[in-house]
Amino acid sequence: MKALTIVPGKPNSAGVQDVPEPSPDYGSILVSAVELGICGTDFELISAEYGWPPPGSDHLIIGHESLGRVEDAPSGSGFNKGDLVVGIVRRPDPVPCLACAVGQWDMCRNGKYTERGIKEVNGFASERWRIEPNYAIRLDPSLADVGVLMEPASVLAKAWDHITRIGQRAEWKPKTVLVTGAGPIGLLAALMGAQRHLEVHVLDRVASGPKPQLVKQLGGQYHTGALSNLGFKPDIILECTGVASVIAECMYQLGNDGILCLAGVSSHGQKIDLDLGTMNRTMVLENQVIFGTVNANRSHWEMAVKALSDADRNWLRGLISRKEKLSNWQKALERHPDDIKVVIELA
Ligand code: BGC
Repeated sequence: MKALTIVPGKPNSAGVQDVPEPSPDYGSILVSAVELGICGTDFELISAEYGWPPPGSDHLIIGHESLGRVEDAPSGSGFNKGDLVVGIVRRPDPVPCLACAVGQWDMCRNGKYTERGIKEVNGFASERWRIEPNYAIRLDPSLADVGVLMEPASVLAKAWDHITRIGQRAEWKPKTVLVTGAGPIGLLAALMGAQRHLEVHVLDRVASGPKPQLVKQLGGQYHTGALSNLGFKPDIILECTGVASVIAECMYQLGNDGILCLAGVSSHGQKIDLDLGTMNRTMVLENQVIFGTVNANRSHWEMAVKALSDADRNWLRGLISRKEKLSNWQKALERHPDDIKVVIELA
């Protein structure tokens, strides 16, 4: 079968290759791939800034934003041929740590977790893949055309879950949320803000194209330019750019008792001037919290199913800018100005 692979650590080694059928070690459910979403992490993998091959191999099948159909599942697994499924990305560390021991692998404490298509286990960018029943999520057939958004949605479901838990440290009725960056992560963050009946603001560099309209359709307000021009201090900020100057502006702009959730993975080496004295003073005097979040455990994937099921299907479809065939994978990895989510068709 065909798969999109890289040699981790070797820049621009990506290519479509013939690889063996997926090993039963990967799980008892055999899935025919339908689609695969491409995200910033895939670009980092391809440019060799990130990524680890499975032990004993130098190649890694990439892809962590999956969508497929069950081809074969053992009886008693809870899955049947034809079921629409997505695969959970992370697996707990073998120790296991305190968090992994209770299924909170997204909070792994020792870093020995593995991740499909990213860290030490093959991903979903192959015509067929296997998965363990406990790490497969069944989707309603009505989600078929947007189900590929499940993985990024699970990451945002976790971010919102943790924002809520932090907020509830005291009496809390947030009114406003600012999302920085209107890519797929930012827009899904905004969707979940709207689903919580918050006043949604989204800030991005781009002033035209589909992004302003998508924010408007959520009932949100779209902003460009400096964050200091916003005119108010948000209760919640979801930072989805990973850009140091934007992160610093977010810190200065956060409201009293505010929560700044960092959800964008930065590139290394972004040095900027920060007045840590003022920042610490403000954080202390205003009870602010800045926290980072990554990945998602099973409960978050279930929250993501609900978020996508409750969302307007046309709006979700609007996040998918282009679909390219696997044979055209190079096109899928191009960045076009109006791209939000680019998807590879594997079926
Ligand atoms: C994925 C997460 C993963 C993270 C770090 C992100 O792109 O969505 O599932 O945990 O990269 O590897």
